[in-house]
Amino acid sequence: MSLTLTLLSSFATAVCAQTARPIPLAQTPPMGWNSWNHFAQRVTDADVRAAADAMVANGMRDAGYTYVNIDDSWEGTRDADGVLHSNNKFPDMKALADYVHSKGLKLGIYSSPGARTCAKYEGSLGHEAQDAKTYAEWGIDFLKYDLCSYGDVLRKEGHGNVAAAFPLQKQAYRKMHDALAATGRPIVYSLCQYGMNSVWEWGPEVGGNVWRTTGDIKDTYERMSLIGFSQAGLARYAGPGHWNDPDMLEVGNGGMNGDEYRTHMSLWAMLAAPLLAGNDLSKMTAETLAILENRDAIAIDQDPLGIQGDRLSAVGPLEIWSKPLSDGSKAVALFNRGELETPMTLAMRDVSLETAVKLHDVWADTDITVLNGAYTAVVPKHGVVFLRIRNNSYSDMQ
Ligand code: GLA
Repeated sequence: MSLTLTLLSSFATAVCAQTARPIPLAQTPPMGWNSWNHFAQRVTDADVRAAADAMVANGMRDAGYTYVNIDDSWEGTRDADGVLHSNNKFPDMKALADYVHSKGLKLGIYSSPGARTCAKYEGSLGHEAQDAKTYAEWGIDFLKYDLCSYGDVLRKEGHGNVAAAFPLQKQAYRKMHDALAATGRPIVYSLCQYGMNSVWEWGPEVGGNVWRTTGDIKDTYERMSLIGFSQAGLARYAGPGHWNDPDMLEVGNGGMNGDEYRTHMSLWAMLAAPLLAGNDLSKMTAETLAILENRDAIAIDQDPLGIQGDRLSAVGPLEIWSKPLSDGSKAVALFNRGELETPMTLAMRDVSLETAVKLHDVWADTDITVLNGAYTAVVPKHGVVFLRIRNNSYSDMQ
């Protein structure tokens, strides 16, 4: 073959390889809304449409919230051919997907590798390819695949020990990934098996874009903080296309105060966690919306470098976490897990920064110049001071 032909043919292969390559998904942590934390099994088609409408009207869509995810309880029965239909709360899933898409948003759905979902609805066991095809035909863009009753299969296989049947669990998650991929539709794949068998070590291998690292969140400071702060050490498993998921947001559901919800949002942003709001978007206070829409918190979560933040220090209940950002700045969060408001001091050298820096306080929305190498702020009980720090030379600040 002549040199020209060889070059042409390798060019063609590259192009073909490129066109055949699947579209990269979840390059930043997925953002959107999920029905479970507020509506649980009561969710209806009308609630999902109302959530989509609210996301457009209140600016959430424009702030980056994209996925409108229906959690458990949409499932009806299978017909004679095994095709799963939605139940009467969701009269026409395709029409719902069209509606959500017409708003510039994407629609997510939920299933289980087991015969039954956690709320005892129809799961996908034995119907994986068929269900994936149904989702693609409806226009689904995101699937949360929740272990639930597949635990029974694993328990049997592992002679009573679910964790011991690890290879089978991996196979089940891989199977649905392959079924989704075979449809040709880009569908974000979210694993939900509560962090068993250190899922962060093998989530990408089975095609997961996100994986739950913990059991379920609750709308209490105790549960949210237990889950969130337990994520220390998992940073190296996250990155573009594959994220740790400490569960959905509870911001605005009423069980925590403003300081606690700001801690929740700050911690999730530091963790590069999916930001899936879990409140009733059609009824929310200005404070809730301001937390969910804070541009700096979102930018920190969505930073394209995709490095998850981690704990720098913990002295009693006072924790400092940091996250490197793509423009060379750093996000630093001073968390007070204690019961009394307390001053906390950040030494710039502890975050490898020069003595002279510019800080932006994310929640106060103020800029601060630090010239002496340390910054002290009073942090409320269960609260946070959330900073974005730019490393400016002293002369820039004159
Ligand atoms: C499990 C999941 C929750 C939710 C419910 C639905 O508990 O962890 O996030 O999806 O099932 O039944």
